[in-house]
Amino acid sequence: MGTQTPETPAGSAQTATLVVDGVSHELPLVTGTMGEQAIDISRLRATTGLVTLDEAFGNTASCRSAITYIDGEQGILRYRGIPIEELARNGSSFVETAWLVIFGQLPTQAERDRFSELLTESSALHNDMGKHFDAFPESGHPMAIMNAMINAMSTHTRPRINDEESFLVAAAHLLSKVRTIAAASYKSHKGEPIIYPRRDLKYVENLLHMMFSLPYDDYEPVPEVARALNLFFTLHADHEQNCSTSTVRMVASSDANLYTACSAGVAALWGPLHGGANMATVQMLQRLHDEGTSAADLVAQVKDRSSGVRLMGFGHRVYRNRDPRSVILKEAVDDLLCALDIDDPLLEIALELEDVALHDDYFVERKLYPNVDFYSGILLRAIGIPLNMFTVMFAIGRMPGWIANWREVNMDPSGRIQRPRQVYTGPELVEWVPRELR
Ligand code: ACO
Repeated sequence: MGTQTPETPAGSAQTATLVVDGVSHELPLVTGTMGEQAIDISRLRATTGLVTLDEAFGNTASCRSAITYIDGEQGILRYRGIPIEELARNGSSFVETAWLVIFGQLPTQAERDRFSELLTESSALHNDMGKHFDAFPESGHPMAIMNAMINAMSTHTRPRINDEESFLVAAAHLLSKVRTIAAASYKSHKGEPIIYPRRDLKYVENLLHMMFSLPYDDYEPVPEVARALNLFFTLHADHEQNCSTSTVRMVASSDANLYTACSAGVAALWGPLHGGANMATVQMLQRLHDEGTSAADLVAQVKDRSSGVRLMGFGHRVYRNRDPRSVILKEAVDDLLCALDIDDPLLEIALELEDVALHDDYFVERKLYPNVDFYSGILLRAIGIPLNMFTVMFAIGRMPGWIANWREVNMDPSGRIQRPRQVYTGPELVEWVPRELR
């Protein structure tokens, strides 16, 4: 196969040539706005009878998307063209970032006001929704509760989205209620009464209030904590076609409603190889602390492949460089611990582990660096978020990305239901055998 670029006449489309059994097939090349090129194989089966095989999608662009740009080699992450460092430096709030990710540009003052108003208006749950919490066992994981409750939202407010206004209202409902659901799942898990949202509090402060207030004792918002959580959410707002977002797009492509598609995203995020890694990382650091294992010993275990141990919070499918989110979070952790006067021994262990790993051939050769989850758990711990709520916090942060991707799928007039092919490896033809002869 060769790529025919130099010979391509100006103005005509570039192609790649695939030669199968001596027969050449021209495949169009698609170029993204940042110059990334992809071979369009959508007509390959029709013209050659062949499909492509790319297990775990390591080399497949599943869609065209204008939401988020990542350059994994250089460690670049931009939402709608804006680098995350800019959003962090300018203190862009999560609500403002959510608007940016969902609608494509930073909101005007009027758009911001209207969005905030909608978020405030829709923060309470339907009374019947509250009853579901009574049925979950106290030991139920908050991610399972969140998954069920977001899907259950479709039974109460099945979103009929047929124009920009109805989409805006549904998006605000979801973004607002997800925080109420998260706080209520935490309260149910603790066996404490569910706390209602307050109209006078902003997005993040209201979440902290619903999580940490008691009927007889109001949580006092701490500005540094609210700032850190805003940053955490902002840095998680989208990350292109990861496992959970691809799941949301897959479900959305069947024309499923916004809430159902996003609840599928929550399910995909839960696993420890994805969003569950923030919890797994802190558990790993805690184990090192409790057992007195050194960073060098853990790294040796990780390198012994028979141990099955992975260094949690390290490595990434796309980044072959530092995950830019981890760089910002590391600094934010330092600032927050200093502001709250907390001396967290897990931070010391994390710093040592990072240093040992980054100087070890195993990690250097494989270009494995700390990812977003390496420091995020320490930040959440400092805020007072319990371990089993870490991935729930990630899910709240990722909601704008899922909503934006659902919208992109739904706004594509040429969109089709997603339906990958497979290479069948089972038996050819098997005869049915009566039960007495098996
Ligand atoms: N610890 C030890 N070895 C690792 C790690 C790790 N954390 N990550 C990757 N490797 C090794 C792989 O075993 C592989 O080795 P090999 O080539 O000798 O077989 C090599 O590095 C390359 O791995 P990748 O192809 O990059 O791995 P993949 O893309 O399949 O998986 C993943 C990426 C799941 C993130 C992986 O790095 C991992 O398990 N990390 C730990 C869990 C984690 O932190 N997940 C959060 C990711 S960020 C997010 O989802 C928000």
